[in-house]
Amino acid sequence: MPQHSPAAVIVLAAGAGTRMKSATPKVMHPIAGRSLLHHAISAAAGTGPEHLVVVLRYAREQLAAHLETISGSIDRSVLVADQDDVPGTGRAAECALTQLPEDIGGTVVVTYGDVPLLTTSTLQTLVEHHETQGNAVTVLSANVANPTGYGRIVRTAEGDLERIVEEKDADDAVKSLTEINSGIYAFDAAVLRGALARVSTDNAQGEKYLTDVIGIARTDGARVSALTTSDVWQVEGANDRVQLAQLGRELNRRIVEAHMRAGVTVIDPETTWIDSDVTIAPDVTVLPGVQLHGACDIASGAVIGPDSTLSDMEVGEGATVTRTHGSLSVIGAGATVGPFAYLRPGTELGAQAKIGTFVETKNAQIGDGTKVPHLTYVGDATIGEHSNIGASSVFVNYDGVEKHRTTVGSHVKTGSDTMFIAPVTVGDGAYSGAGSVIREDVPAGALTITEGRQRIIEGWVAAKRPGTPAARAAQLAADPAAGDPATDSAGPNRPGSTDDANSAEKES
Ligand code: UD1
Ligand code: CA
Repeated sequence: MPQHSPAAVIVLAAGAGTRMKSATPKVMHPIAGRSLLHHAISAAAGTGPEHLVVVLRYAREQLAAHLETISGSIDRSVLVADQDDVPGTGRAAECALTQLPEDIGGTVVVTYGDVPLLTTSTLQTLVEHHETQGNAVTVLSANVANPTGYGRIVRTAEGDLERIVEEKDADDAVKSLTEINSGIYAFDAAVLRGALARVSTDNAQGEKYLTDVIGIARTDGARVSALTTSDVWQVEGANDRVQLAQLGRELNRRIVEAHMRAGVTVIDPETTWIDSDVTIAPDVTVLPGVQLHGACDIASGAVIGPDSTLSDMEVGEGATVTRTHGSLSVIGAGATVGPFAYLRPGTELGAQAKIGTFVETKNAQIGDGTKVPHLTYVGDATIGEHSNIGASSVFVNYDGVEKHRTTVGSHVKTGSDTMFIAPVTVGDGAYSGAGSVIREDVPAGALTITEGRQRIIEGWVAAKRPGTPAARAAQLAADPAAGDPATDSAGPNRPGSTDDANSAEKES
């Protein structure tokens, strides 16, 4: 546990977030593969608080269910406090206190569900500063170019924190201040509880302001101070989709940079998108236009891209994944995938194996060294090791009602355009001829061929398609000397051809 773990962190998330103009609650919108709320709670949980409380009201049930998922993924309990119909951040904090032990002491941190770039380390710095200074309240503040909408930090002539004034309650002098209240605080638990009971709704918005705790504490003679952060992004909230995109881009920039500093080569950071939960080993190369989503895990020496989108994929050491779209699949060490491959969930490609160009796979185990090089669909299949699936083959898994599996052994070589009509099994070392339709099991070591004998009908084109380019080509092939200029179709470059000849041809 970190040295300065707070007794509790309260995350405020009861607001509606109407500016998102969305049917989805604001804090459930994702950046870098996690909801805003998940980012906020991860940062809070990182400080190791004894209690973690989230205040909800808007979309309560949906968010409570989402919190269960988050709680599972961070592996700790998250309490829910319901805000009643008294509005304001102060009331929200008061409602959170009802979920905490009455006699809770020490430091209580308050933060928001919609500040996704805030880090555990910044919260720790706040708590440490708060505790070493012996403060009753410490506010995290920032100097911003455009402070409109924020509460302003008003300091005394000596530079001490005096109070926070909301935009709607501010006169022009206060509005001209550019130091803003981030809304992130460390409180002494007893001071917070005592002061909140005395906060009124007597202000321009008729809300219980959490910021009023500062004035009350100060009047009582307690120490209050503002800690200024220079990293404004960390206290920035996502209020609309424009800000959501800006925060998403900045978070991505930070994630990509962290991977580069840890030994990953990223050729074009601007076109590389990496989610928070992705892990990448040193000496991976990421080419331009790559998105790594969810829980991707990329092993050392792999080369990903260009132009690939992988979600929840495991890529083995030294594998190459080129122009590929894949999800919930495993690519073995030294395997090659793409260009232009589509790996759907449940694909497991063995070591040194290959999924080539215009190949789609789904729920398919493809063994070590096995190659599926061209134009093929492999669905619901198990293929052994060192087999080769001929170009343009289909694992015909669907009979119109149910899906069935195909099993192919090791060292199997199938001809181009083989159809595996599932359920069917092809034994080890078997071969199939081009154009095979495999409906019955093929024993190990057998050759299967499916052929109606090929018929040749000589002269069919001359008889049935006279006067066509095909007929003339056939005639020329039979007798090159018969190239009569008057009926030549080879175009103006051919010696002896004339414009007249070409127009004569069109009339024929
Ligand atoms: C608040 C601060 C302001 C600060 C700003 C930073 C107060 C009175 N003002 O502004 O000084 O500069 O944050 O963004 O605290 N929330 C609830 N319940 C409520 C109201 C809000 O849970 O009744 C939550 C919202 O979901 C949101 C956060 O608190 O996560 C901030 O709410 P918002 O309305 O955006 O902030 P302001 O009150 O305008
Ligand atoms: Ca408000």
